[in-house]
Amino acid sequence: MNHAIKVLFVCLGNICRSPTAEGVFQQMLENAGLADAVKVDSCGTADWHTGKSPDERTIAAAAKRGVALEHLQARQFRAEDLTEFDFVLAMDRSNLDILHGAWSSAGGTEPELFLNYAPRQALEEVPDPYYGGEEGFEHVLDLIEDAGLGLLQAVRQKLEVTGACG
Ligand code: 4NP
Repeated sequence: MNHAIKVLFVCLGNICRSPTAEGVFQQMLENAGLADAVKVDSCGTADWHTGKSPDERTIAAAAKRGVALEHLQARQFRAEDLTEFDFVLAMDRSNLDILHGAWSSAGGTEPELFLNYAPRQALEEVPDPYYGGEEGFEHVLDLIEDAGLGLLQAVRQKLEVTGACG
């Protein structure tokens, strides 16, 4: 499939926040009829969980909102992602710093914070839920759903500009 736009979500382990964003945004695209035009992927800046499914708590929280994540497999970020993807969206500043380091030598798409697309949120970062309780995973989903709607608008605009839509 030749996708007009490619979106990459990045966190630390690629088992909690970024796979949640991948699954939620994929579903938003499907609901909007844009799944063929937009490719979505996620990765982690660390390689600790490469090849693993998302965290069980991540899978359970997303399933409650009708989003299936168990088929996803963690992978590590690579500098070539900055050339392949049109949106590179970090969940927090520490991961953004790592991506910026790669971008300053490799070039490509400049990474940004995902919550830039949720301007009504007071938070700038999606908090890491790994060491916390269940409510942290719900909060991650709330933030991702909000930013996902803003991102969908930005993706629509880009599709219109590139003439790839309708
Ligand atoms: P994520 O959360 O970056 O949202 O996937 C984490 C997952 C695993 C670890 C830390 C954060 N860890 O320390 O293994």
